[in-house]
Amino acid sequence: MKKDEIILLYCDEKANYLVSYEKNKEIHTHKGKIVLPAKLSYGDVVYSSKNLPFYVLYPDTAYLSIKVRRKTTIVYPKDAGFILLNLGVKSGDSVLEVGTGSGALTIILSNAVGKDGRVYSFERRKNFLENAKKNFENFSKFKNVSFYNMDLEKNIPDIEVDSAFIDVPEPWKLISNVKEVLKPGRILGSLSPHVEQIKKTKDKMIEVGFVRIRVYEIILREILVRGEGTRPKEYHITHTGYLIFGNKTR
Ligand SMILES: C[S@@+](CC[C@H](N)C(=O)[O-])C[C@H]1O[C@@H](n2cnc3c(N)ncnc32)[C@H](O)[C@@H]1O
Repeated sequence: MKKDEIILLYCDEKANYLVSYEKNKEIHTHKGKIVLPAKLSYGDVVYSSKNLPFYVLYPDTAYLSIKVRRKTTIVYPKDAGFILLNLGVKSGDSVLEVGTGSGALTIILSNAVGKDGRVYSFERRKNFLENAKKNFENFSKFKNVSFYNMDLEKNIPDIEVDSAFIDVPEPWKLISNVKEVLKPGRILGSLSPHVEQIKKTKDKMIEVGFVRIRVYEIILREILVRGEGTRPKEYHITHTGYLIFGNKTR
């Protein structure tokens, strides 16, 4: 294990921690103290001072993204996977996102475009941007994000992107500006918690020349498989938002 590599120390669903690796590092948990050994590999098990096992696991992007320090609501993994597919994001792409918020989607986009891609992330609140940058530094694998403290209602950045995603309360106010930097034929997406917002976003997208507009809601249920029986978990995040996508015409 290299120094600063992000590992997931997993005992159970209530005791699991993201830690950057350093030999002899001490982690204090309610299940006892863990000391990271000089030699450590994924799949290993380390024991806490209470002799409880913690597995050394590779953290997936869904897990990383929900562990960000939150100053805003975030894009959840159930929506993020669908967003990536519907924007057509692939390795090497350039993607615009606004607003950065807590940086949860930024981490997901960064991993999707990889080392040869670039994410341009715009946020108008400086304190949110600083928090998102810290989250990104803690959890990112690539240095492929350009962060901007900028209001996209008032500015058109000097870039050209393969796809764009808007996650702000009033997306319709930014659509014309975002359209300017999106390549023709490519896809703009947006997320809003309310149907009324989606309606306004759709009207604006049509007005400025987007076609093939579609709206979705992603519903996800985790299933508990246990000795006493198998059934959906009783508590969930039941509503995040509605997703809208459309393609730019010239
Ligand atoms: C819901 S949060 C985004 C969460 C983010 N997608 C995440 O996964 O962490 C919305 C953010 O948009 C920012 N915002 C709102 N209007 C904006 C604008 N016109 N330009 C730039 N940022 C804006 C807000 O300050 C807020 O941080």
